[in-house]
Amino acid sequence: MVEKFLEGKNALITGGASGFGRGVAYAFAERGADLVLVDINEDLLEETTKKVAQVSGQKVIPIVCDVSQSDQVEAMVKQAYKELDNVFILFNNAGIGVSYGRNICRIKENDWDQIMAVNLKGQWLVAKSLCRKMKGQKFENEELAGKMINTSSAAGMVVDPAIPAYSITKMGVIALTQLLAKSLAPKITANSIAPGFHLTGIYLNDEEAMRMTMRDGKVKVPLIRIGTVEDVINLVLFLASPASNYITGHCFPVDGGISEVGVQPHYLKEVQY
Ligand SMILES: NC(=O)c1ccc[n+]([C@@H]2O[C@H](COP(=O)([O-])OP(=O)(O)OC[C@H]3O[C@@H](n4cnc5c(N)ncnc54)[C@H](O)[C@@H]3O)[C@@H](O)[C@H]2O)c1
Repeated sequence: MVEKFLEGKNALITGGASGFGRGVAYAFAERGADLVLVDINEDLLEETTKKVAQVSGQKVIPIVCDVSQSDQVEAMVKQAYKELDNVFILFNNAGIGVSYGRNICRIKENDWDQIMAVNLKGQWLVAKSLCRKMKGQKFENEELAGKMINTSSAAGMVVDPAIPAYSITKMGVIALTQLLAKSLAPKITANSIAPGFHLTGIYLNDEEAMRMTMRDGKVKVPLIRIGTVEDVINLVLFLASPASNYITGHCFPVDGGISEVGVQPHYLKEVQY
């Protein structure tokens, strides 16, 4: 039996159809939250929504929206507040991970614009649009009006030359989070998470493709295993719970030690992932 600490507190999850978003949707619903799941992938969103609602018995509403488009984001937030009487948690998580090559001087302008628009502008638009209503919310026995959890990456903690454009977007997410934390305090907290290598839709759920990326980037994980969606869910649950109410503006790695320990490629013995 899990503690239903989200009863009466609802959540909006972007990128909710797949990967971390989907995993967190199950975890939040199991703890009593009603949900709005936002995604650009209509079929997958429909499927995930039905499954989460069925398993949890909670209200789960799908909204198809491209988070990089301000008009769609505004309409999505409006609809979310029609469906739910509050949004206590924003899991601002939609993102793309395409690599446009290693050379920052060779990235095409259209590719740069696309990844910036989804990974960075998208999170800003959703946070900006949602915070107006979030600020005014009140809950019994709860000091906060809301919580924002933004998905960055280990590539946002330490610049990753193998994926320069992606890395810049995720460093931007950490900066965005710090600024949101300042401007929304004391009613709303904003923190970010920095996952490492976890098998999800971003690697087309292909474990060998992910391991190839790791070998290619000479990635060494001090805890000597790849990450799971469950690892990320555990951190997000902490940030959604009252146990983290005195924490804002920070980025939390969940990466087996890749970014914080800063182990050099030659330092650990060769590991085959
Ligand atoms: N998987 C990893 O190892 C890893 C590591 C670090 C960070 N991340 C980040 O985690 C987040 C979630 O990714 P994931 O790994 O669960 O991958 P995923 O592909 O399984 O999930 C991402 C979801 O975002 C949706 N999406 C993409 N563009 C969108 C848009 N413009 N508007 C709305 N929805 C959109 C996709 O349809 C998908 O359902 C991303 O921000 C990603 O950059 C992932």
